[in-house]
Amino acid sequence: MAFNVAADAYDRFMGRYSAVLTPQMADFGRVKAGQRALDVGCGPGALIAELVDRGAHASAVDPSPPFVAAARERYPDVDVRQATAEKLPFADASFDVALAQLVVHFMADPVQGIAEMARVTGDGGVVAASVWDMVGGQAPISPFWRAARELDSGVEGEARRAGAGEGQLSELFAQAGLADIEETAFPVHVEHATFEEWWKPFTLGVGPAGEYFQQLEPEQQQALEQRLRDQLGEPIALETRAWAARGTVSY
Ligand SMILES: C[S@@+](CC[C@H](N)C(=O)[O-])C[C@H]1O[C@@H](n2cnc3c(N)ncnc32)[C@H](O)[C@@H]1O
Repeated sequence: MAFNVAADAYDRFMGRYSAVLTPQMADFGRVKAGQRALDVGCGPGALIAELVDRGAHASAVDPSPPFVAAARERYPDVDVRQATAEKLPFADASFDVALAQLVVHFMADPVQGIAEMARVTGDGGVVAASVWDMVGGQAPISPFWRAARELDSGVEGEARRAGAGEGQLSELFAQAGLADIEETAFPVHVEHATFEEWWKPFTLGVGPAGEYFQQLEPEQQQALEQRLRDQLGEPIALETRAWAARGTVSY
């Protein structure tokens, strides 16, 4: 499993970008103090931090044991459970809002996962999700997959994953039965002073990119690193964005 890794490795690889997305995600989900809020696919807890800061009563799920352990340790007052979106361990209408940040593209059944988020959210509540624009090549990890494909045209990357293109999340939300669906893009400016700072976390085995890197032969790893070093230079500045969809639960 691409996320059976230490929380610290995740923080260094993707957590550094998710922390920048969380205020946009919580705003878009219209999270307010006192609400019961569910973070689906919480990872080590970037979005939990935002929900707690906003005074929401947060709960969270993730299938990755090390991430659940880290989230529990970081937020001892939050109910963090090991589970998938497709089978949420909560009764109907347990929440006012359910959010999934950078998770839909990892769900085995995205429509079922989003429908489950709607089921556990009460009538009139909000369900929202975001996924990097990997179809548009505007994820912080897009340069990695571009270079990998240049070296091996058979590399799939993550652009075919659910929700990674404009309009795709809205379509999944519609299939999951949500009403009043709106889609937007969250811009994220990514800056790294050195190539090393951007690159090193790719070697830690986190997510599909990290897994891909680790199964390469040493000389292939070096070729990929060198190509990216040449292409990106330093400092690195990337204009990235995530697609986000929001819908209302209507019984
Ligand atoms: C890119 S991380 C996002 C983590 C966190 N939401 C964030 O913004 O940093 C993707 C997360 O989705 C989780 N995940 C994978 N499949 C899932 C599923 N079917 N249901 C819920 N979460 C899932 C992974 O374990 C991982 O923590």
